[in-house]
Amino acid sequence: MAIILATILAISVLALAPPLIMRSLIDDAIPDRDLRLVTFLGIAMVAIPLVSGVLGVLQRWASSAVGEGIIFDLRNQLYRHVLGMSLGFFTSTRTGELMSRLNNDVVGAQQAVTGTFITLAANIVAVVTTLVVMLGLEWRLTLLAMAIFPLFIVASRRVGRLLRVVRRDQLEHNATMNAHMQETLGVSGALLVKLFGRSHDEEQRFSGEAGAVRDLGVRQATIGRWFFMALGVMGALGSALVFWTGAVLVIEGAVSVGTIVALSAYLGNLYGPLTALSNARVEFATSLVSFERVFQVLDMEHDIVDIDTPVRPVRFEGAIEFDGVWFRYGGTGGLETVRRTSSRSAFQLAESIPSDRGAEAWALQDVSFRVEPGELVALVGPSGAGKTTTTYLVPRLYDVDRGAVRIDGHDVRNLDRSHLADAIGVVTQEAYLFHDTIAVNLRYAKPDATDAELRTAAELANIATLIESLPEGYATAVGERGYRLSGGEKQRIAIARVILRNPQILILDEATSHLDAHSEALIQDALERVMKGRTSLVIAHRLSTILSADRILVMEAGTVVESGGHAELLAESGLYASLYRTQFARAT
Ligand SMILES: Nc1ncnc2c1ncn2[C@@H]1O[C@H](COP(=O)(O)OP(=O)(O)OP(=O)(O)O)[C@@H](O)[C@H]1O
Ligand SMILES: [Mg+2]
Repeated sequence: MAIILATILAISVLALAPPLIMRSLIDDAIPDRDLRLVTFLGIAMVAIPLVSGVLGVLQRWASSAVGEGIIFDLRNQLYRHVLGMSLGFFTSTRTGELMSRLNNDVVGAQQAVTGTFITLAANIVAVVTTLVVMLGLEWRLTLLAMAIFPLFIVASRRVGRLLRVVRRDQLEHNATMNAHMQETLGVSGALLVKLFGRSHDEEQRFSGEAGAVRDLGVRQATIGRWFFMALGVMGALGSALVFWTGAVLVIEGAVSVGTIVALSAYLGNLYGPLTALSNARVEFATSLVSFERVFQVLDMEHDIVDIDTPVRPVRFEGAIEFDGVWFRYGGTGGLETVRRTSSRSAFQLAESIPSDRGAEAWALQDVSFRVEPGELVALVGPSGAGKTTTTYLVPRLYDVDRGAVRIDGHDVRNLDRSHLADAIGVVTQEAYLFHDTIAVNLRYAKPDATDAELRTAAELANIATLIESLPEGYATAVGERGYRLSGGEKQRIAIARVILRNPQILILDEATSHLDAHSEALIQDALERVMKGRTSLVIAHRLSTILSADRILVMEAGTVVESGGHAELLAESGLYASLYRTQFARAT
């Protein structure tokens, strides 16, 4: 920053010299026929731009270092902040929108800082120094030149307001366009578009957004140009005033011709920076929009955080307890909630985010149960009963509204989240894999796992033979989201990943899609090995899992309605008995 200010000052001072050289040439050197002075002035005329040019490079280097540094910091901060948001945020936010904030808005915000700061500093210095010299030369004409200053201020205020609106629309349309691309150009989206033959509609929707971006771009450019023109005319007006009055004064013999020539050169030095200042003001107003959008995200509170002194148990036994748990979705809004408020005014969003609480129905109502260490408990129930929700509360993806979820007697809200994550292994219904090799995906669970450990885990998960049959073995890339693997293969890789993690508690959301008997047997076999010696909570869709469970919890509409062993529950002829008859008995 010091370098930047120093160079700004030096360049402005250097810029003051040429008009004085002209004056000296006209008023002294030529009348006095002083050749040495002429030569000296000539050399100075080359030396000044040279030095000021080099200083300019130095300034550019320093300012870009600051600017890029700001982008770097903001991006890191944003990324960390967003990653720390709870799952609820991600379920209600479009990824493309987020990416847009991390890409475009961060750059825009940076411009507000460096671009504007430097223009501001450089031009204020230029205007002030020029004014001082001009006042010294001829104060009456200088005051005349200053008479049009208010015009610049009025114009820049109006245009700034205008362009701010345009910029906001532009960024929002850009973000929507990004989100649309991200949704339809990902594998799942592209698959859906193709399967439903909607390419044409998607093209149209896309070109609608892209068109809006185009129109706003044209509008922005046009407004910018009109503004530029207005500034030019104002400058001309000021110059005309000064020249006319100056000419009258010369005719009357009140001032020298050289002074007028120097003054006219200074007018350029004055109105140029003034134009730049007006522009900077407009730029600042528009860049602030990006700033707001970045800080809207940074200002969103993390709703799931560790307490000040979290509990960090050395070892978990693996007992899970739900104690009168009530829960409903809708605590954290996504970016959308912020966006809705942002079109009105910025910096008031914390209060104005509408609370969606109370709008959603209870997903879980007074759920209580215990799973002892090493036990296998199966969760069954109709669709929407709250099974997945129940499993989400154990690794604290959401916080309960009432009651408590405890592991080994510790409320999960009091546990260190990384310890909690270490203790729990989850195999979700749709196994997610990163676009990387199998080995990298497996090591996600345990970065320092040796090749031998990878192989053992893969063997336990019944996937080793398949991996080794691939031409590149563990180095095979799985493709975006693992789309190069079959559903059953992906699940077994996910199981191998959990085995590497070696958690005390295993949570499994069984795939509802029915695999062929062979892969199902492979998965079943793998799971039995994994569950041995661990506490397991399984959302069961297969009869074999239910039959091997120590206990079955039957859920309906957010509550546990029955619990017990298979035979016991069948005898009750309640919900379980009917589920058994309609789903499980037939399915396997
Ligand atoms: N992110 C969410 N936001 C709002 N409501 C949700 C969310 N996720 C689930 N729900 C609602 O919570 C209720 C319970 O959903 P849950 O996913 O736990 O059901 P489930 O028993 O796992 O069903 P399935 O067998 O179909 O997977 C449902 O009514 C569902 O619509
Ligand atoms: Mg579910």
